[in-house]
Amino acid sequence: MPKIIFIKPNGIEHEVEAPLGKSLLDIAQANNIEIEGACEGSLACSTCHVIVKDNWFDCLKPIKEEESDMLDLAYGLTRYSRLCCQILMSEDLDGLVVSLPLETHNLMI
Ligand code: FES
Repeated sequence: MPKIIFIKPNGIEHEVEAPLGKSLLDIAQANNIEIEGACEGSLACSTCHVIVKDNWFDCLKPIKEEESDMLDLAYGLTRYSRLCCQILMSEDLDGLVVSLPLETHNLMI
């Protein structure tokens, strides 16, 4: 089973099993990693913001315009930021490392 490493804001790493085809948001929530995902993956929030480790960033599928627009609203945006509900697990992402930002803003409330 492929794995993903989530790094929490306190620096603690959590390596979890990552079933193929699942979104990073689903994988995080199934493993009690605190990513809100307020819109449940419908690209209507930025509460699933993660920061992809730099050497992994180019391995991801290119960002779509809708994701980019929502990301612009994310707190603490970096050039390696993505919305994790839009990243689907695949074989070539085995070992992916993503960090959780210090804060997220839920504009849906
Ligand atoms: S969960 Fe809302 S955009 Fe990802």
